[in-house]
Amino acid sequence: MPTRPEGLGAFAPAKINLFLHVGDKRADGFHDLESLVVFARTGDELHFERAPALSLKVVGPFASKLGLEPDNLVLRAARALCAEAGIEATAKITLTKNLPVASGIGGGSADAAATLKGLNELWDLGLSQEGLFEVAAQLGSDVPVCVASEPAWMEGRGERIMLLGKVARLPIVLVNPGVAVPTGKVFAALNERRGMGVEPPEALDDPGALLAFLESTTNDLEAPAKALAPEIGDALSVLAASPGVVFCRMSGSGATCFALFADDDAADRAAATLAERFPAWWVMRSQIGGAGP
Ligand code: C5P
Repeated sequence: MPTRPEGLGAFAPAKINLFLHVGDKRADGFHDLESLVVFARTGDELHFERAPALSLKVVGPFASKLGLEPDNLVLRAARALCAEAGIEATAKITLTKNLPVASGIGGGSADAAATLKGLNELWDLGLSQEGLFEVAAQLGSDVPVCVASEPAWMEGRGERIMLLGKVARLPIVLVNPGVAVPTGKVFAALNERRGMGVEPPEALDDPGALLAFLESTTNDLEAPAKALAPEIGDALSVLAASPGVVFCRMSGSGATCFALFADDDAADRAAATLAERFPAWWVMRSQIGGAGP
């Protein structure tokens, strides 16, 4: 008897903008960006199975925060891929939502990217990474870099990506103070911005050089996001005061903030202390860079 195909899984890691400079607003309404993007070892999980029709089930800690409206990014990604390939959408998708929703770490974008990659494989479409980038760019500014899922220099509205190779391994603690700040609103509240013109540094695999570079940059969206949600300022102050912290900042358009640590023990202690002091916050100990997926 033939065995029933079990389907396949995909990991959708959290995206972190180590810096994010905003340039001019373009004719298409989007702003030009420059950003250094890395991925953490924490993320959402997806599972894909062949099925007669397209369906999505969401489970996990943040499932209830994600409405199953037709414009859900996972379903939109599945439909966009079908349109590209000229086929019917036939898959049962299960999303385990571990990452907070609308939180600046690309949860929705990473899910959409993992959907494109997973269904490309499930349906044997054979689209190249370039082909997936093109579909991804239609879905949102951060989706192409999430298809790459590797350290990248990002430009344009987010669709121009240069893969950077190895980045220093650094322990990280992610904190979300429980407020959702819509990306469009944060851009609309932007007053000051650094503009374009930073070059990717050479020694990204050296922790000291990476941190020195980051000190020379900003996240231009941090100030407007803090103005919209003062809890972001609280999270940043608490992270900055954690023993052993070497750098902290907000990611993307917020509200998730991150802190990088000199060593694993300091990051472990900070995460445990923050989780205890702020039980309503999402606190996640993870890692960026280093070898392996
Ligand atoms: O592309 P995405 O759906 O993530 O963008 C959400 C909103 O954020 C856009 O509608 C736009 O208002 C703003 N945005 C922008 N410039 C970018 C990315 C997003 O102004 N590069």
